[in-house]
Amino acid sequence: MKCLVGTQLIDESDARISPFDRGYLFADGIYEVIAIIDSKMLDAQRHWDRLERSCGEIDLPLPMAMDELKGRIAGLIEANGVTEGRVYFQITRGVAERDFAFPETSDPQLFAFVRQTDLVNTPAAHDGIAAVTVPDLRWKRRDIKSIALLPQTMAKQIAKQAGAGEAIMVEDGFITEGSSSTIHMIKGDRLITRQLSNDVLPGVTRASIFDVCADLKIAVEERPFTPDEAAGANELFLTSAGALVQGITSLDGKPIGEGKVGPVTQLLRNKYIELALQTAD
Ligand code: PDD
Repeated sequence: MKCLVGTQLIDESDARISPFDRGYLFADGIYEVIAIIDSKMLDAQRHWDRLERSCGEIDLPLPMAMDELKGRIAGLIEANGVTEGRVYFQITRGVAERDFAFPETSDPQLFAFVRQTDLVNTPAAHDGIAAVTVPDLRWKRRDIKSIALLPQTMAKQIAKQAGAGEAIMVEDGFITEGSSSTIHMIKGDRLITRQLSNDVLPGVTRASIFDVCADLKIAVEERPFTPDEAAGANELFLTSAGALVQGITSLDGKPIGEGKVGPVTQLLRNKYIELALQTAD
């Protein structure tokens, strides 16, 4: 597979990045993950917009003009012939003397890779996944898509050890989000999901699911909810560029609803894929 280091499209085995890059020393960087179906990027504009915002929040200049960046990421997907899967890219502040404050001039570094993998027809899409709750150990600016992901890796490890597919993080008694996803529940005829703030990442798939709900005339309520409320919901599901829309069939070992992927989750997933493909590029 080829990856992108700066403007160079090279074999992954030849990729070299300096250990003095601030991404390596301080996790000083921003990333994005975009889903690919039919060789096209889903919700791409929303991902570019979030990337720009995240970089702006930490004063990190883009390594190249946005149009060039878009073109290079598209070129990476094409060069690898990926038809379905994910593209990952990150921008770090580049090489500098190890000093906590930002360097006077930075030379931001782009790194991107892509993977072919099934997104539409997966066992988890059909069967759903189990989830467990864990304490949210993260920092106070979770709206920034930082590459500093240690608390999320620890959360996911707890989920894995419990035989679950996602860890749902809880703070002050309320669910914030999944370790790498947004959490939603269906209660009656409404979709309920936490409101945006510095406490959660503004999920791109979340925003697109709101569009799907508008189309389907499903009311959306944005408010915090507890694990107990989630456990008693009709349906529980997550959204992310990695999993699209995925049913959660149990929480901390207790089944949600009938313990199967619910009909609204299924409908939202199908409609999301259909709508996202119409605008994909
Ligand atoms: N994660 N919340 C967190 C903490 C996330 O890491 C993610 C995505 C989401 C969902 O955002 P979106 O719908 O824009 O993918 C919410 C990506 C997929 C990852 O880290 O691999």
